[in-house]
Amino acid sequence: MKQSVKLIAGNWKMNGLGASLDEVASLRRSLEEQPAACRVALCPPATLVERMAAAVKGSVIEVGGQDCRAETHGAFTGGVSAGMLKDAGATLVIVGHSERRQEFGESDRLVAAKAEAAVGAGLAPIVCVGETLEQREAGRAVEVVRDQVMNSLPRAVLAGDFAVAYEPVWAIGTGLTPTLDQIEEVHRAVRAAMIERLGLGSAAAPILYGGSVKPDNARDILAVPEVGGALVGGASLKASDFLPIIRAA
Ligand code: PGA
Repeated sequence: MKQSVKLIAGNWKMNGLGASLDEVASLRRSLEEQPAACRVALCPPATLVERMAAAVKGSVIEVGGQDCRAETHGAFTGGVSAGMLKDAGATLVIVGHSERRQEFGESDRLVAAKAEAAVGAGLAPIVCVGETLEQREAGRAVEVVRDQVMNSLPRAVLAGDFAVAYEPVWAIGTGLTPTLDQIEEVHRAVRAAMIERLGLGSAAAPILYGGSVKPDNARDILAVPEVGGALVGGASLKASDFLPIIRAA
């Protein structure tokens, strides 16, 4: 089977000021010296989207948001719409990250509406799913993730570029990762659910793995069947950590 190009996306979360763009400049220089074999994206806080987009202009690095509202505009104090991210220079947006599902009670239904809004604005959504430790220990990981995929992916995503990110909640920021067999098992289940939900048109969309991806485990994780890239948190903040992950793809 033809292996499509992987996507390595960094999620800066609530980290980064103007000075952090030095890291982006350094990443850009390295990728100009030696081109990446994969797609590369960085998702900074909303305040940096426009400046980062300017800093990577003309390079292969893509810029994404970390979340968007499902609505296009209106009285939603503090809200950022997909259209605003696009206007600031983003081409992607993460939706349904577990930190938002847990902290802000975001449901699959809301995540699906956000993904739909992203596509409507011309952004590629990265739709996140993943089980908690309790769910994994109860033997329910595959079932939980399958349900999230079935309910968080609107048909609208087929209209554009999109990705699903499998991020076990217990692996995020903990240094813990599932075994390679566990990653493969869930990724195969995600692929099956995507095809059941959206049809064969979704077979080419990458399924990213996220949760404690580091320079020393990236190569093994990225070689797992059905792993189409990585969503990287902590290790995306420094070019010196992110670059080896890109090189592993
Ligand atoms: P981490 O975060 O790489 O720091 O574990 C991943 C994520 O939350 O996307």
